[in-house]
Amino acid sequence: MPGEARSIGWIGTGRMGYEMAARLARGGADLLVWNRTRAKAEPLAQYGARIADQLADVAARDLVFCMVSTWDDVKQVMNALLAAPGKMPRLVIECSSISLEGSAELRKMLAARGIDYLAAPVSGNAKVIKAGRLSFVCSGPRSAFDEALPYLKMIGPAASWVGEGELARIVKICHNVFLGVVTQSLAEVTLLAQKAGVPRHAFLDFINQSVMGSTFTRYKTPAFVNLDFKVTFTPYLLRKDLDLGLDAGKHFEVPMPLASMTRDLVQQMMGRGWTEQDFATLLLQQAQASGLALEPENVEVGDGLSG
Ligand SMILES: NC(=O)c1ccc[n+]([C@@H]2O[C@H](COP(=O)([O-])OP(=O)(O)OC[C@H]3O[C@@H](n4cnc5c(N)ncnc54)[C@H](OP(=O)(O)O)[C@@H]3O)[C@@H](O)[C@H]2O)c1
Repeated sequence: MPGEARSIGWIGTGRMGYEMAARLARGGADLLVWNRTRAKAEPLAQYGARIADQLADVAARDLVFCMVSTWDDVKQVMNALLAAPGKMPRLVIECSSISLEGSAELRKMLAARGIDYLAAPVSGNAKVIKAGRLSFVCSGPRSAFDEALPYLKMIGPAASWVGEGELARIVKICHNVFLGVVTQSLAEVTLLAQKAGVPRHAFLDFINQSVMGSTFTRYKTPAFVNLDFKVTFTPYLLRKDLDLGLDAGKHFEVPMPLASMTRDLVQQMMGRGWTEQDFATLLLQQAQASGLALEPENVEVGDGLSG
C-alpha cells in the first residue's frame, strides 16, 4: 500500500478492467468501482471494493482509472463523470486502447477542469493480469506518473513513462499492430508445418524454445494446439487497433503493408461471423484457406504463465 493513500475510483470492469481492479482491491486500495452492467462489478466486493450505483459517485475520488472499449465509449463515460456535481478527481488514468487524437481531446477536456491526465494503456490479457505480468506504457506529466505509480505497481510490475502528451498511445497502437501481424504469421507457419506432417504441439514446442519464441507465442500455444478459443481479446477490438495503426500510418506517412493485410484478414473473419471467440481464430480461417480440417490435438501444453 502506497505511503499517502489516495481514494481510487474505477470505471469499466470488462475482461481487463475487472482483473485490474481486483488486483488493486486485493492490494488494499480504497476502491469504488462503477460498471455500466453493475452485475459484472459486484464480485469485486469480495476483495473489499465498494460498488457504485452511479458513475457520478466515482467523481469524488482522488484518482480515477478508466478501462472501457473505444474512444467513443471513453468520451461518453468521461462526459458523464465531468457532468457530476461537486468534487472532481485530481488525476484521471485512462487505460483503454484509443487513438492519439481521442487521447488529446480527453486531455483538453480534463485540463479545462484542472484535472491531471495520464494516458496508461496496457500490454497483456486478463490471464496475464492474474499472473501479475501486466505492463503499462504511460505518458503525460511526469508528476502524474509518479503519483499513479504505486497503484500501477499494485496492478502489474512494469510501468514505463515514455514522455509527455499522447506518446503512450502510439506505443500501444504499434504494440497491437504487432500482435495482429504476429498472430496471423504464427497461424500461417503453424499450419504450413502441420500440412507438411508436423503436429502443431511439436512445432510450437520448438518455436517456443527457439530465439523466435516469446511470452506471447507461449501463451497462445494452448489455443493453437487444443483449439480453445475462449475469448481473451475480441476480433472487434483487434480490428479497432489495426485501424488505429493504419490511421497513424497515414498521418505519419509510414507504409504499413502487413498491418493492412492483417486488418483485412480480421475483417474477413468477422464477416464469416467469427466475432464472439478469441481473435486467435485467425488460425481457423487460415486452416480453411489451406484446405485443412482442424481437430484439437488434446495434448497438455503449458502457457508459460501459470504454474
Ligand atoms: N482483452 C485484452 O487482451 C486487451 C489487452 C490490452 C488492452 N485491451 C484494451 O482494453 C480495453 C478493454 O478491453 P476488454 O477486453 O476488457 O473489453 P470488454 O471485455 O469488452 O469490456 C469493455 C468494458 O467497457 C465497458 N463499456 C464499453 N462501452 C461503454 C460505454 N459506452 N459506457 C460505459 N461502459 C462501457 C463495458 O461495460 P459493460 O460490462 O456494461 O458492457 C466493459 O466494462 C479496450 O480498449 C481494449 O482494446 C484489451
